[in-house]
Parts: sequence; structure tokens; C-alpha cells
Amino acid sequence: YRHFMEKEIHDQPGACQHTLSAYLDPVTGRARAPGGLDFSLVDRIQIVACGTAHYAGLISRYLFESLARIPVDIDVASEFRYRAPPVRKGTLCIAISQSGETADTLAALRWCRDQGLGTAAVVNVHTSTMAREADILLPTHAGPEIGVASTKAFTSQVAALTALAVAAAAARGRIDAAEEARLTRLLLEAPRLISGALALEDQIRALAPELAKARDVLYFGRGVMSALALEGALKLKEISYIHAEGYPAGELKHGPIALIDEATPVIVLAPSDALFEKTVSNTAEVMARGGPVIFITDEEGARRAPAGVRLIVTPGCDDIVAPLVYAVPIQMLAYYVAVQKGADVDQPRNLAKSVTVE
Ligand code: AGP
Repeated sequence: YRHFMEKEIHDQPGACQHTLSAYLDPVTGRARAPGGLDFSLVDRIQIVACGTAHYAGLISRYLFESLARIPVDIDVASEFRYRAPPVRKGTLCIAISQSGETADTLAALRWCRDQGLGTAAVVNVHTSTMAREADILLPTHAGPEIGVASTKAFTSQVAALTALAVAAAAARGRIDAAEEARLTRLLLEAPRLISGALALEDQIRALAPELAKARDVLYFGRGVMSALALEGALKLKEISYIHAEGYPAGELKHGPIALIDEATPVIVLAPSDALFEKTVSNTAEVMARGGPVIFITDEEGARRAPAGVRLIVTPGCDDIVAPLVYAVPIQMLAYYVAVQKGADVDQPRNLAKSVTVE
């Protein structure tokens, strides 16, 4: 591999598999929460994290709320403690961090602990301060991540949190054993599906020269894909220095559509899920204003996609694994655009792997 980031993108099937095996039992079909975490005692979840880890948290909010029916608050860690939210007993604080050392996330975790809340940390470095200080360690097993732009740590966080949402749904009696086994089986397919998405590499590399000329790029999607749109935009910004924004598709009309012209590429994350038609109609609005569209979907979505888009067709998958599968093309897109621009992919300017000061 030319760069650590490229290697780490390709490490993802293994990283997800190792992570999922800490939470899912393929034999019994059960999902388990490590460290004696009992979700039947959790009334509410407060997630704190920064950057990419925050976006993994945003994705998990959809799952904890829809599957397990646990209300979730989520804050960027640097804002959380200064807004001094009222604390409710029964709230579990979940900090998410690759390094386990990010100053703001650690401070937010400590703030929750000092308010008497239970704390858990989804952490990749198991010897880190957060891993030691949280009541419960929820490990990811991505292995060391060297590239400043997080890739395999992100998908491992999403994998762990998705498995935890299934465990929480089961513990709270929201799903029966058969449904738990079905979701477990679907999640365990993630490594194979991620490998399928990696096979799109040549197609994505071919898009890079055009995209590298852009000054601004917009990403949008609905539901969990709106959170992934934020991650796609962050990846592109940090390594290629192209200005990018992620938006929930429904927000376009409320402002960002004013940015669209022939020189502003739009990346649409559009699995053929319940919200697909709405995403298609937002895409049509973009195209009517001349915006070139890269439409990332599955085979079913490709059949129903608006004419004139550039299609990237990912392996078809269940909604529960879609964030893991769609993460791969957006990471590769950012990577190849940065390579095209001759940027220092693993050490982007002004950025550190771990932000240990406020
Ligand atoms: C991601 O590509 C970033 N470089 C950055 O946003 C990172 O995710 C953030 O600084 C949080 O780091 P952590 O996971 O180690 O806490």
C-alpha cells in the first residue's frame, strides 16, 4: 500500500469481524454487552465524542432509538460540559474515541462520572485513559490506526455500537430471540459486504480526477445516511483540502441548494430503503440546477435512480449494515481525490492523530 490510510481502508473487513466477535455469538445468535452492562437499567443514553467518532455516535442514535427504544442525546464533547445539561439518574454516558485520549471527550466522560452517571467508553486503544477511567470498556478491535483520517476505527465503532443496540433491544424485551438471531446473522455478514464494497476501488479511482478540480462538494442522505454524509464531507476536507459539507437531504431546500451549480459535485448516499424515493426527489432538484451527481446506491436503487447520475453500485444489504458498507466508497473517494491532488494523505496539514489539548 502507498499509504497507511489505503491499508486501513482495506483492513476493514478484518477489523469489523474482530470487533463484532466481541459482541455477537454466531452459534447462539445472541448479542451481548460486555462488562456486565445491563441495558434494562438504562433509561437514557448520553453520547459524547469528537469528529469522526461523533458521527459514529450519530449513526448509533438511530439504532438505539429505533431498535431498543432508548432515548439518546448526543453532543460534540467540546460543547457538552459547557452547556451544563441537567442530569437525569438512569442515564448512561457513552464516550466514543479511537485513541481514548481526546481531551474534550475525556473531560466530558469525567464530567458525567462526577455527576454520578454510569460511564462506558467505546475505545480502540484499550490501555488508554478513557479505557481505564470508564466504568465499562466497550472495545473496538480495529488494531492500530496510523492515518490521521480515521477509517477502520470508524467502521469498528459503528459495528460495536450497532451490536450494542441489538443487545440493548434484546435486554429490554423490544425484540424476541428469533429477531435477535436474525439481526446478529445480518450483522455478521458485514465483513463480507465491506469486502464487496472494496471491489469498487477502480470505479472510484476513476472519479477522482474530476472531483479533485472541485472547490466545493456536497454530500447528502437521509436517516443514518445523513450522519454518513457528514463523515464523507469530513474525510474529503481533512485530506484533500476541498471544502465539503454534509446535509440531511431534506435540509437542502432550506439553504444549501443555493450553492449548487455545474461546478459543485454532489455525492448522494441512497440505499434502496424506506426513504429512497425522497432522496431521489431531492437528487432531481439538484440535477435541475445543473449539479453533477455521484449516486451511491445498490442494485435495486440503481434501477430506480434518476437519469444522468454517475452510479456507484454497492452490494445490496440490510439497513442495519448499510452504514458499514456505504462508509467504504466515501473513504475511497476522499483517499483517491487526495492522492490525485498530491496531498500528504497520512499526515494532513494542521491535524494531529489525537487531540490531547482543549
Ligand atoms: C477523523 O478522521 C479525525 N481525524 C478526527 O475527527 C477524530 O475522529 C477525532 O479527533 C476524535 O479522535 P478520537 O476518536 O481518538 O477521540
